[in-house]
Amino acid sequence: MYCLDPIVGGFPIDSLTLLHVVGARPNFMKIAPVLAATDSGRGWKNVLVHSGQHYDSIMSEAFFDDLGIRAPDWNLGVGSGSHAAQTAAVLAGLESVLDQEQPDLVLVVGDVNSTLAAALCAAKKGISVAHVEAGLRSRDRSMPEELNRVLTDQLSDLCFTPSRDGDANLRSEGVPEHRIHFVGNVMIDTLEKSRHRAAELHASERYGLCAGEYVVVTLHRPSNVDDPAQLARIVDAIDAIARDHPVLVPIHPRTQKNMERFGQTFASAKAIAPVGYLEMLSLMGSAGLVVTDSGGIQEETTALGVPCLTLRSTTERPITIDEGTNVLVPVRSKGAILEAFRSQWRRDVSHHLPELWDGKAADRIADAIEAWAGQRS
Ligand code: UD1
Repeated sequence: MYCLDPIVGGFPIDSLTLLHVVGARPNFMKIAPVLAATDSGRGWKNVLVHSGQHYDSIMSEAFFDDLGIRAPDWNLGVGSGSHAAQTAAVLAGLESVLDQEQPDLVLVVGDVNSTLAAALCAAKKGISVAHVEAGLRSRDRSMPEELNRVLTDQLSDLCFTPSRDGDANLRSEGVPEHRIHFVGNVMIDTLEKSRHRAAELHASERYGLCAGEYVVVTLHRPSNVDDPAQLARIVDAIDAIARDHPVLVPIHPRTQKNMERFGQTFASAKAIAPVGYLEMLSLMGSAGLVVTDSGGIQEETTALGVPCLTLRSTTERPITIDEGTNVLVPVRSKGAILEAFRSQWRRDVSHHLPELWDGKAADRIADAIEAWAGQRS
């Protein structure tokens, strides 16, 4: 009996080795569906590398558990550091892994330092790169993630975009058409798969909160939390909101450390340790409103149909404003945040989901990789 390799264009596509790199909290919900789709029935070898950029159990392991991601094959253990130190540690650490694993394709997700470092390491070694969540642009180059996005896309052979604005951004930067693949949003794959389990948690009850009547706040962006005056404006505004409505703040380690350093505390809002993926989804799903400076939460609140105030003057995810539930609030003063809160609290946010935010983005990514492998000579 003959066993034929599925050969398309001369390349045996069942012998592909894919190496996936993750590093920080927002990467994990993006890689989970991609790993599942590339693992299932195609005969490919999948290698998972964790850079160790995030290392606290609640910032990393908890997400692997919640999302059912298997343990990484490699952990580079890079930890915290300056941008240069962190990026350099991933570059140096990944090189010997690539030498040993010899992947055909390195997959990177999102826009954290580990994303750019892994893409650069692979490209320098002549290994093809795929970027999941390509094309997003805030056009604010003071934001570390914007540099990571622009450079990662330039290094990538396959740019998987979550929305059509991503395609347009890539075209305008000269990325050739054959590299651009509009596949939809992998974050929404994970959200769709998890929302029932999250709802069953009734996480709000654990904090004595009534559905629809409380606010969830997340903050971690350096532009908001590294400057004492800016952080004080935000903390004051959140506390003012908390005098009338319960406010829960799962606090990021960067924000926690800075508040301690600056001698700031929440007087009325309730700060809690960071929470896992399912608990956060559960809390957001029944919130009356979410205040954030995160990228992913702008998308998740759009999918959940919950009003969201994003404490930034730009977003790389404009579709969450045009078609979703998101409003940008540049933090000029405490009053600006309070005014935005009053206009959005309990706003009717009935809307439709953006194109291809349908829970099937990762399957389209796996199909595109199969087609790409088939075309390689
Ligand atoms: C990083 C990403 C950001 C992402 C965010 C999600 C970059 C440039 N930034 O920012 O895009 O939105 O993750 O959280 O890659 N820390 C801990 N434990 C940890 C991780 C960090 O205590 O497990 C503390 C350390 O003091 C560290 C600080 O948080 O110095 C910042 O961590 P870092 O990974 O540098 O950046 P984030 O602010 O988390």
